[in-house]
Amino acid sequence: MTTQLSERQQREKEYYESYAQSFDVTQDIDFTPIDSQISGDEFRPWNSYWRTYQIPIHFYQSLQKTDTQVIRLLDFGCGPGDNALRLSRIGYHVTGFDISESNVGIAKKLFEKNGKVDQSEFVVSTAESLPFAGGYFDMVVGIDILHHVDIEKSLKELNRVMKVGAQGVFREPIEVPLLDKIRNSFLVRKIVPNEVSLEAHITEDERKLNEVDLKIIKKIFPKTRIERSLILSRYDKFIRKKGSKKSSLLEKIDYFLMKFIPGYHLLGGAAVIIIEK
Ligand SMILES: C[S@@+](CC[C@H](N)C(=O)[O-])C[C@H]1O[C@@H](n2cnc3c(N)ncnc32)[C@H](O)[C@@H]1O
Repeated sequence: MTTQLSERQQREKEYYESYAQSFDVTQDIDFTPIDSQISGDEFRPWNSYWRTYQIPIHFYQSLQKTDTQVIRLLDFGCGPGDNALRLSRIGYHVTGFDISESNVGIAKKLFEKNGKVDQSEFVVSTAESLPFAGGYFDMVVGIDILHHVDIEKSLKELNRVMKVGAQGVFREPIEVPLLDKIRNSFLVRKIVPNEVSLEAHITEDERKLNEVDLKIIKKIFPKTRIERSLILSRYDKFIRKKGSKKSSLLEKIDYFLMKFIPGYHLLGGAAVIIIEK
């Protein structure tokens, strides 16, 4: 990466260079959300991560492709590559980029360890200026990334590198003005400090997406659809066993209430953003 980084990009890079050291490359990656949905055994549309994987699975399965055809997926801000590894199980050739060299190095090691090097490519790059040819990718997945970058610049770049007809999906935290105001009030912060919150922000520049961001996304990708979740299920953190792989009852309740109560979805603190070129 030769371009001069902005101050914000530099701060993000520094933070993630050091955070990357905590990732254990030897750990076993949980493939359940991918394998269960590829086989059709189980779907969890109420969980934003499962839903984010469901979109590229459906897209891949709906393609009429020849045996030798390469279908390209971009992991947008890939971090240490565990999501990319899961996504490679679908059959895509996976390309990942990240501003952090350490993350890119870990992602390469993870693919080596899993015998998937031939099905992957990882590069150090900013989201705002991508080193790929126009119309290169069939599918894009980004998890917890748009709220770290300059959304307008990055999505214009993304639009350039997507094929016509390509799809994309992002999973992002999103502002709920009323709830966020209460959450950040002096009294609530005293009782539940930000450090123990579900929504503790990590880097200095990180912030939840807001209505202005959604407008920018819709301007660049007019066919954008937004699905919200995380209303009652915000409290899973306090009542569910850590690391539980079972489906969350509160997530299911949210999902069904959203169908029956107009406006309920607007309280959702997570968004799955589905785009199309
Ligand atoms: C919250 S992490 C998410 C990583 C990955 N998607 C995941 O789910 O594990 C945010 C990532 O964004 C990367 N990042 C931050 N700003 C960036 C930028 N401007 N361009 C590219 N990557 C960036 C960081 O290095 C970090 O890996």
